[in-house]
Amino acid sequence: MRLDVVTIFPEYLEPLNVSLVGKARARGQLDVRVHDLRSWTHDKHNTVDDTPYGGGPGMVMKPEPWGEALDAVIESGEGRPVIVVPTPSGRPFTQELAVELSEKPWLVFTPARYEGIDRRVIEDYAERCDVREVSIGDYVLAGGEAPVLVMVEAIARLLPGVLGNAESHRDDSFAPGAMADLLEGPVYTKPPEWRGRGIPDVLLSGHHGKIARWRRDEAFRRTTRNRPDLIERADPAAFDKKDREMLSILGWAPGDDGRFWRVAQDVEE
Ligand SMILES: C[S@@+](CC[C@H](N)C(=O)[O-])C[C@H]1O[C@@H](n2cnc3c(N)ncnc32)[C@H](O)[C@@H]1O
Repeated sequence: MRLDVVTIFPEYLEPLNVSLVGKARARGQLDVRVHDLRSWTHDKHNTVDDTPYGGGPGMVMKPEPWGEALDAVIESGEGRPVIVVPTPSGRPFTQELAVELSEKPWLVFTPARYEGIDRRVIEDYAERCDVREVSIGDYVLAGGEAPVLVMVEAIARLLPGVLGNAESHRDDSFAPGAMADLLEGPVYTKPPEWRGRGIPDVLLSGHHGKIARWRRDEAFRRTTRNRPDLIERADPAAFDKKDREMLSILGWAPGDDGRFWRVAQDVEE
């Protein structure tokens, strides 16, 4: 997979040389190219921003450097990339979107600063490329570089051969399939006792069926506690008889449409 990042802070992307993404680059599984937007400016101050039309606080990133940068990046490769524009006003970045983007051969990220990029840039490239405006959460950061690091890590770990154990993302929270609407429950490792705390007996039982059930029950507990909205919007067809028993213990009951609603709040989570 090829990834290009156009930014005014190339050094902010240094973490892409480290750990999982860095190793994937070294092995040739990821071709990451970071570009300095200011190389496509032509004045002596390398200006990339200007005052907003209509007034108001802050500055807006000028369209010309972005246009030249994106044209150069696009012309340097085969076909058309997906352009990912980080912005707090975009669609939420989810595991589902990470999976979708991990299947694309080429992504170009456009992290902005100030009040964002002149709108015409997004409109212009949307005429010939798949452009995704994406938010990593309901808060506002000073720039899009940290969101790019977040998205690249989530995408890269899904690429074939990047994680040591290909199965390790199967049970992740939000993983498509059985975990799509559940958070992963607690995990434990050696030693078997630490500061007087043991680990649940079932994990020592060697009984795969019981362990799988315990993990799923714990996922229901944690999701009930931290993200009940996930259970409310889950497709009830995903829940088997044992899931429904657990949901009932946790105070959930199916409504008229079959979806689950929390009818009792004071039960043991
Ligand atoms: C200060 S923010 C601009 C905020 C803009 N005025 C707004 O309210 O939508 C500057 C840049 O940081 C990035 N950014 C900030 N918060 C983000 C978030 N939650 N998700 C993705 N990108 C974000 C985007 O690249 C954005 O253009």
